[in-house]
Amino acid sequence: MSEPGGQAAARAAELRERLDYHNYRYYVLDDPEIPDVEYDRMFRELEALEAEHPELRTPDSPTQRVGGAPVEGFGEVRHLVPMLSLENAFTADELQAFDRRVRERLETDDQISYAAETKLDGMAISLLYEDGHLVRGATRGDGQTGEDVTHNVRTVESIPLRLRGKGHPPRLEVRGEIYMPKAGFACLNERLAASGSKTFVNPRNAAAGTLRQLDPRVAAQRPLEFFAYGVGYCEGAELPERHSEVLEMLKGWGVRVSPLNRVVQGAAGCQAYYDQMLGERDELPYEIDGVVFKVDKRTQQQALGFVSRAPRWAVAFKFPAQEVTTVVRGVDFQVGRTGALTPVARLEPVFVGGVTVSNATLHNMDEIERKDVRIGDTVIVRRAGDVIPEVVRVLHERREGHPEPVELPAKCPVCGSDVVRPEGQAAARCSGGLFCAAQRKEKLRHFASRRAMDIEGLGARIIEQLVEEGVDGREVQTPADIYALTTDELAGLERMGEKSAANLVASISRSKDTTFARFLFALGIPEVGEVTAASLARHFGSIDRLAEAETDDLEAVPDVGPVIAQHVHEFFRQPHNLDVIAALRARGVNWPAIDYEPDVLPLAGKSFVLTGALETMTRDEARDRIQAAGGKVTGSVSGKTDYVVAGKDPGSKLDKAEQLGVTVLNESELLELLPDA
Ligand code: IVH
Repeated sequence: MSEPGGQAAARAAELRERLDYHNYRYYVLDDPEIPDVEYDRMFRELEALEAEHPELRTPDSPTQRVGGAPVEGFGEVRHLVPMLSLENAFTADELQAFDRRVRERLETDDQISYAAETKLDGMAISLLYEDGHLVRGATRGDGQTGEDVTHNVRTVESIPLRLRGKGHPPRLEVRGEIYMPKAGFACLNERLAASGSKTFVNPRNAAAGTLRQLDPRVAAQRPLEFFAYGVGYCEGAELPERHSEVLEMLKGWGVRVSPLNRVVQGAAGCQAYYDQMLGERDELPYEIDGVVFKVDKRTQQQALGFVSRAPRWAVAFKFPAQEVTTVVRGVDFQVGRTGALTPVARLEPVFVGGVTVSNATLHNMDEIERKDVRIGDTVIVRRAGDVIPEVVRVLHERREGHPEPVELPAKCPVCGSDVVRPEGQAAARCSGGLFCAAQRKEKLRHFASRRAMDIEGLGARIIEQLVEEGVDGREVQTPADIYALTTDELAGLERMGEKSAANLVASISRSKDTTFARFLFALGIPEVGEVTAASLARHFGSIDRLAEAETDDLEAVPDVGPVIAQHVHEFFRQPHNLDVIAALRARGVNWPAIDYEPDVLPLAGKSFVLTGALETMTRDEARDRIQAAGGKVTGSVSGKTDYVVAGKDPGSKLDKAEQLGVTVLNESELLELLPDA
């Protein structure tokens, strides 16, 4: 019979079936068939149907993951079979000793097959399925008795509320690990910090803390995931012969199993798996703290049995810890290539992430203040992969006495120039710019680059040699020194012939004729990019007027805010920088004077975007000429763009211009707007 109720029931059953199937494709097979929106659409249809016919709701409907009201407390669960822990191995020798013991006990010289698995760094969990339905989730507790956390476990989408297929054992206890992926952990902490709540130290604590929530709605909003690694108890069915087959069987029933599981042969196979996983560790989306080897054949497992709380047939081969505690002996400040001062903690040396570490970054002053790091503190240091070791947090409870807070130095430790830290910015910088040795190579490279002074042939390799070794015993430190280089001196450099030396001298000489905007950009003032340099040049017209400007005057320039204003102001207050500029001009660097009344320039206030190749000039030349005429050139088309200049083979910028109705000019139309060169 097909009365409306019957139809609704059939549709609800079909939707549940499909949603379960797509969940399985997504979580277990890691091979989704449909886009998320399609899943969401079916999910909402089922929700609506169940709202209309509440009697159709089943406890294992995908809509019922958050089952009910918060629980009052956690019930105790006595495990059907104790949940054991694992013996640890830390070295290759210990791994071999494990394999030897296994073979001795089994009285065999044959290689042992091991199920190799990752050791997930989360919380052990026991899931009880009765006739294929999830009826209970429990923590490990002391191994005998755990806590009933069913209400939270049900919210984990990678845990099926019912098993797929048919013929499940009447009672089956699946064991595995609930963990929080790294990205989800970072988001959660950001969210917690933003709402002023306490953050979690690591993903494992976050997973544990989440499972201990009384309100399942909290757990439902946190990104927990699950991988099964075994069966604790099975009633009414025979399990396959091998552990690896047991996991395959679980997978067939829709239980998520790690795709990194393998079967390996002997201690050598184990070692190779360990090495591979250690190499992949940092790329995995979740944390693992080692690998686990289990004798694969279950008859052999039974023959080996248990010692106290761990099986004799399994071992955890742990990775070197990525977080350890040590003591801060001091804090130094390093000056980077961009002038940023980075505080570095000098540590009591410790072994972490596989190497001995004696320095760790503290990032910037905000971080020091936020973490409240002081000299003498005991701290947690983290080193993951190739990432620079960092101080994660201070164990404040171990602080002795009242150590002084760390202070930002007033002068650059390398060159003695003033250190500035603009209001609201985390990074403190040396204002020595061109003068500071720490910044020299980077500043010179930028100075010579194509969009700055455009010195062809003066690349990073030559700058490196010039700064490190100098020429004929003379140091090359500032951009002004570049203009004193001779062909003979350059020809003395490694891998530099007479001809290329002469070419380089010629291009250095050519670069002397420049524009004010390029010159300003070339100076490498923090935060002053090409567009800002052009605005400043246009507004002030001369370098002397710019150098005298106060921050208020600077802020009057379009696009210049307080941070840029402070950087520019500070730059021109450093006598070394003024000396370098004077020396450059004395050596012939020059630019056409700009009529600095912004309003009288023909293209004042007009914004241009260039696309495609021009015939009579390069795009860079076009840009320089537009800027000299008071116009602005930006990289992308927006509603604020006045003109898009389209040359040969224009790109998508032209389409964008047409979409937005921006005026498009060809090259000759542009030339008409420009004053004669
Ligand atoms: S097997 C009898 N396999 O490590 C064997 N454990 O100290 C019991 N763990 O609390 C565990 N990944 O939560 C096993 N692939 C894996 C594992 C794993 C992580 C955890 C487990 C247990 C601890 C063992």
